[in-house]
Amino acid sequence: MKILITGNMGYVGSVLVKRLRVSYPEAELIGFDMGYFGNCISSNDILPECRVDVQRFGDVRRFPKQLLTDVDAVVYLAALSNDPLGNAFETATFDINHRASVSMAQAAKEAGANAFIYASSCSVYGYAEDGARTEESPVNPLTAYAKSKVWTERDIAPLADLKFKVTCLRFATACGMSDRLRLDLVLNDFVAGAVASKKISILSDGTPWRPLIHVKDMTRAIDWAVRRELAAGGPFLTVNVGDDRWNYQVRELAEAAAEVIPGVEVSINKNAQPDKRSYRVSFEKFKRLAPGYTPEIELITAVTELRDGLIAIGFKDENFRQSHFIRLNVLARLKQAGRLTHDLEWAFGSGAIAS
Ligand SMILES: NC(=O)c1ccc[n+]([C@@H]2O[C@H](COP(=O)([O-])OP(=O)(O)OC[C@H]3O[C@@H](n4cnc5c(N)ncnc54)[C@H](O)[C@@H]3O)[C@@H](O)[C@H]2O)c1
Repeated sequence: MKILITGNMGYVGSVLVKRLRVSYPEAELIGFDMGYFGNCISSNDILPECRVDVQRFGDVRRFPKQLLTDVDAVVYLAALSNDPLGNAFETATFDINHRASVSMAQAAKEAGANAFIYASSCSVYGYAEDGARTEESPVNPLTAYAKSKVWTERDIAPLADLKFKVTCLRFATACGMSDRLRLDLVLNDFVAGAVASKKISILSDGTPWRPLIHVKDMTRAIDWAVRRELAAGGPFLTVNVGDDRWNYQVRELAEAAAEVIPGVEVSINKNAQPDKRSYRVSFEKFKRLAPGYTPEIELITAVTELRDGLIAIGFKDENFRQSHFIRLNVLARLKQAGRLTHDLEWAFGSGAIAS
């Protein structure tokens, strides 16, 4: 078995390769990544890429199709992975998250792969105050990031057939430790604030709803999607991935962090503009289709693990919102330094890179 993972050098990918290495010990794992966050390591463990058999550096916008030869499954994680990146780099977001994803799915089908797994997001629901969203609910993408996910789902759907299973996993917001940690995720931000400064500052008024999922549970869902039978969802499947018990209001997440890390002061922003993102999601379909692969980790366990993981790497940075654990900071700085072009291509060969 051969599995190609795009975006394997990110937050989710670094956890995913660990899972796939154990789950498919005989498989050839191929990683393909631009390497934007290669330096953003947050562990004393081995480099996550040591677990894949082949690591290729490259841009999904110019994907070398020969890499798809004999590939059975493609897991497509490569993306500009949040709203702030989508706002700062809108064109690149549509090119990478939408156009390149669709081209890759087409190429994978032509090359004879039998499964394509796309990392979509519950942020496609945007703002929805009236009850939990199901896969049949109308989408309401409010940002370039969310639109890129909706458009990809739409455009890869017609490719699915009995020989080419397409699975769009609409993930809840991730949390938890990874060898390439992100702190621009709500629970991770709260725990980092609690560990570094005993302060949690909620940027909103704390009321928005945000379903969450532990990153390890995301990788269990991907594992399921790689091996799912056609009977479980048919050739084309869009499914919300998370757990009904993990629909939290933002302030409840802060309270959970404060419960595990005593003496923490929680502040909310009473003057915040109403959050544009607020939605509850139904994960009933995933529970029905993927018994044995639904989320297992509890919120308190997630907070405890994250606290311990941060302490283990000596994390003390009170200004972490300015750090390289925030995806936007990394790309903005690389661009400012001339390492990346405006379109987020590597600026090799330019004067700036020679230094
Ligand atoms: N983390 C979450 O909360 C969450 C929730 C829902 C969906 N997702 C989706 O899951 C996927 C992985 O998210 P993540 O948190 O690991 O993000 P991340 O930013 O940590 O990782 C994304 C990876 O994609 C790579 N990449 C970006 N552009 C590329 C290009 N042009 N060519 C090749 N590689 C490129 C980056 O170098 C990075 O390694 C994304 O598609 C994201 O939208 C994440």
